[in-house]
Amino acid sequence: MKVLKDSFGRKFPYLRLSVTEVCNFRCTYCLPNGYQKTDRDFLTLPEITRLATAFAELGTHKIRLTGGEPTVRPDLIEIAHAVSNIPGIRTVALTTNGYNLKENARAFRDAGINALNVSVDSLNSERFHAITGQDKLTHVLEGIEAAKAAGFINIKINSVLLKEVTDHTLPEFLSWIKREALSVRFIELMQTGENLAFFKQHHISAGVIIQQLLEHGFVPELRKPDSGPAQEFTHPDYAGKIGIIAPYSKDFCKSCNRLRVTSRGKLMLCLFGEGGYDLRPYLQADDQREELIDVIAHALHFKHETHYLQQGITGSTPHLATLGG
Ligand code: 5AD
Ligand code: SF4
Repeated sequence: MKVLKDSFGRKFPYLRLSVTEVCNFRCTYCLPNGYQKTDRDFLTLPEITRLATAFAELGTHKIRLTGGEPTVRPDLIEIAHAVSNIPGIRTVALTTNGYNLKENARAFRDAGINALNVSVDSLNSERFHAITGQDKLTHVLEGIEAAKAAGFINIKINSVLLKEVTDHTLPEFLSWIKREALSVRFIELMQTGENLAFFKQHHISAGVIIQQLLEHGFVPELRKPDSGPAQEFTHPDYAGKIGIIAPYSKDFCKSCNRLRVTSRGKLMLCLFGEGGYDLRPYLQADDQREELIDVIAHALHFKHETHYLQQGITGSTPHLATLGG
C-alpha cells in the first residue's frame, strides 16, 4: 500500500477538504466585504467521494470538512454521510462558524461527523458582531450547547488573536472554560494575499497570551508526536484547555501532518503554497482511482519543508475562505 510521505519524512493522515468558498460571515481578517464571487463550481458529491476514497487508500484516516462555511452547502449531510462510510476514515471533523449549528447539530452527528471546531473570536456580543459582521454570538453559543446535547465531545473553539481585543480575550475565555470542558485555540493572525494592511495593524504575537497563561498558573502539556500544531496549556482548576497556534514560531511546520484540497479540487501542499495541483480531471469516474492515487502521491515530493511567512511570502491564498484555515 502506498502511504503519503514527503521528502522530509512527514506523514499525512489528515486531509482538510473545503466543500465551498461561500460564507455567510464577513470576518474582518478574511472576507471583510463578504463572499463576492459568482462562479460557484464546487466539487460535487461524487467527486468528493472519489477524492476521499483515494486519500483513505493512501492512509488518510481523518477528514475535516471546511469552507468558506461548509454548512451553507445544502448537501453537507450527504457529504458527511458518504465520507464517514469510507473504509479507513475514522474521524470526520467539521469546522464551522456556528451559524447553522443550533438547528443541525444532531443531523451532523447522525451523518457521521464526530469532531467539531467552532470559531468564536470574542465572547462579547458587540465585539463578536464587529469582527464577524453578524450579531450572532448568542445563537452560536446555543449552537455549541446543542452540539454538546447531540453527543459531540472535545469541542474545539477557534479564536483569532487580534491586537485591539487581546486585553479582553483571555479573561473572557478563561471564565468560560473554568467550568466548560472545551478546548479553546487561540490562532495567531496570518497574513494572506488580501489582508496585508489589516495584518500589519492587527497582528499580535501569541507570546503575549502565553505569558498571561503562565502568570495564571497554566502549564504547557507535553507535545505528542501526532499532536498537530497547537501547544496546549492546562490548569487543575479549569475544566477546559487553552491551545496556542502560532504559525510564525520556529519549527511550526515540523509537526505538519495535513494536506488541503480546495472546494474546486486543487491539492494544496501548504496553506501558503503556490498554485496547487488540479485533481479535478482525475475525479470524473470511479475507474480513475489508480491514476488519482499516483498523482497525489507524486505531488507530495514537492512539499517544502516550511512556509515562508516570516519573509512575508503568503503564497497564492487570497484569504482563508478559499481553503478553510
Ligand atoms: N489568520 C488566522 N486565522 C484565520 N482564520 C481565517 N482567516 C484567518 C487568518 N488570516 C480562521 C478562522 C477560523 C478558521 C477556519 O480559520 O477564524 O477559525
Ligand atoms: Fe467566513 Fe471563516 Fe472567513 Fe469568517 S473566517 S469570513 S467565518 S470563512
